[in-house]
Amino acid sequence: MKVIIPVAGVGTRLRPHTYSTPKPLLYVAGKPVLDHVLEPIVKLEPKEIIFVVGYLGDQIKEYVENNFSFKARFVHQKELLGLGFAVDLALREVNSGPVMVVLGDTIVKCDLKQFVNSGDYVLGLMPVDDPKRFGIAEIRDNRVVSLVEKPENPRSNLAIIGLYYFNDALNLKEALRILVKSGKKTRGEIQLTDAMEAMIMDGVAFAPFEVDQWLDCGKKETLLDTNRRLLHETGNSPRIEGSLVVPPVYIDPNAKITNSVIGPYVSIAKDTKIDNSIIKSSIIGENTSIENTVLDNSLVGDAVTIRGDKKSLNISGASEVDFT
Ligand code: G1P
Repeated sequence: MKVIIPVAGVGTRLRPHTYSTPKPLLYVAGKPVLDHVLEPIVKLEPKEIIFVVGYLGDQIKEYVENNFSFKARFVHQKELLGLGFAVDLALREVNSGPVMVVLGDTIVKCDLKQFVNSGDYVLGLMPVDDPKRFGIAEIRDNRVVSLVEKPENPRSNLAIIGLYYFNDALNLKEALRILVKSGKKTRGEIQLTDAMEAMIMDGVAFAPFEVDQWLDCGKKETLLDTNRRLLHETGNSPRIEGSLVVPPVYIDPNAKITNSVIGPYVSIAKDTKIDNSIIKSSIIGENTSIENTVLDNSLVGDAVTIRGDKKSLNISGASEVDFT
């Protein structure tokens, strides 16, 4: 099986952090989002993982090459014309055979082996409260009968979560080629959802697969919420003399914490220094320095300096805040 991971997007809803760091490399619960996505995929031992890169793509390439040993290929997407366009580019590197597509910010909790064994074509789904924001599937007799991208009048609340399996890439390749050539767009983009809807019209049966948990990393609030949920599994909660650590937290072994209260729900990346501070429900990037500060519900990037006293921040790379 080959895996395609589209990671070309700009991540506008996570600015200012995504001005300097691509969304898949943002830190959550002790590691980048991409690690959480890749670790279960790597266990399936795919033949190759094809990344569709664009915005800040060099950072993603470098990160994958330095931290993972699977066979990786990087396809460059110059024009951000939609998910269907991205997958079409990647499929030019694939002749036939099984393909799984996973969005680069889709952290899901499910048995991926069971997912790919659930049918020839499988679609990851999850009920949502706001179906107008997603691709929506209509199910009948345990079969997907229609797919609509961000419908005005949703026929169900089952959202496409960004996890797709195709036992043979050929059908999808063909559906996408036709779609790209026709130039048909929905909401201004060439949609993977539209290509799959065309496959369904041609008689392809997608099996619905409801995942246990889908952890969104798309904006500050959801990234912090994902941090809270994942830390129960990935936290390390070390003892630090002179400081109080309230689990769950992840504190990198190369972070230096003195005279502080950390947690619950805090991730601190490497080479960061925290002194005389109280931090809860926050993500703190690497090589950052925080002193005499109270932080709650904050997203702080890499190489930031904060001195003084304030409660909530959303601040990215190489900034300096001095409240004193
Ligand atoms: C994409 C897909 C959509 C899916 C969503 C999941 O939309 O097109 O079908 O529901 O991902 O996050 P996007 O979020 O890129 O607009």
